[in-house]
Amino acid sequence: MEKGKYWVVPANNAQDKKSCAKISVRFPSQKLFSQTIMDYTQTINKLSRWFDDYAHSFECGPQQLHEAALLKHEHTRQVCCNMDSLCKSISLGNPLLFTAQITALFHDVGRFLQYKDHNTFQDRKSVNHSQLGLKVIDEYHLLDDLPQDLSHKIRTAILYHSARTIPDNLAKDQDLLCRLIRDADKLDIYSIVASHYSNPSQVRKEIFETGLPDLPTVTPQICSAVASGSTVDFSMIKCLNDFKLIQVGWVYDLNFTRSFQLLKERGHFEQITAQLPLIPEVIHAIELARRYLEKCASQRFTAYSIYSEAPEGVPRL
Ligand SMILES: [Fe+2]
Repeated sequence: MEKGKYWVVPANNAQDKKSCAKISVRFPSQKLFSQTIMDYTQTINKLSRWFDDYAHSFECGPQQLHEAALLKHEHTRQVCCNMDSLCKSISLGNPLLFTAQITALFHDVGRFLQYKDHNTFQDRKSVNHSQLGLKVIDEYHLLDDLPQDLSHKIRTAILYHSARTIPDNLAKDQDLLCRLIRDADKLDIYSIVASHYSNPSQVRKEIFETGLPDLPTVTPQICSAVASGSTVDFSMIKCLNDFKLIQVGWVYDLNFTRSFQLLKERGHFEQITAQLPLIPEVIHAIELARRYLEKCASQRFTAYSIYSEAPEGVPRL
């Protein structure tokens, strides 16, 4: 097969567990990508179909891989919805809107291979899933026909979507894209863990809880880090409650008014905090985070509040 001209996608009948052979499909050339609304829509639709087929090809694997792939497939769909909602809230237009939608679609494309090859979603115990995602994008030439500046923005946002922090020297539109995907991603992780903590299943326990002991305590350093709004290194986590409290502290890493509103409206913050032990230090950290959430959710809708000037293409409201 001649490289660069084909996107290889799994067979359409990948749902059939006996038939997961890969086939190659040639798409019409996108070399004349002229950045019209039609180009954007057609490209998103094609990439979206490729992603569905790719995810299905893992869903036909063994039970644990099937569950893990289903989880990430559904997660991606929800992140795409969250991204649409955030972009709408700041009236983001093309081409940034387009890059945001493709970033959401491919932000976790490395998760499928990560789980298949390493049987875990923990980067520390396997590989960096963001970097692996970029390799998958290269292998299948998914962004080859996009204008180079757009594909560079998408790749950079994917690379930093799960980093502890983002570099402070990014161009404004790149910084915006990174913040959008980080919020869209976190909002769905909130949803997944909130429903898992309320109603745990054995399979998802193995996928999520990563063997952390379910102790009735919280590590004091985690408590003080969350109370002060600091980010926490994952190596400090000692038990499941630490993990839950860190998720409470994620509110300090959200960027957009709409993100705070969605978190509040969906009730996930309260669902997670209800799972934590009633220790004074924990109650204090939760209360500070709750106040911050309330304050940020009630901010007047501006384009967004993180820049003194909007990046090009983002209107001031
Ligand atoms: Fe991710």
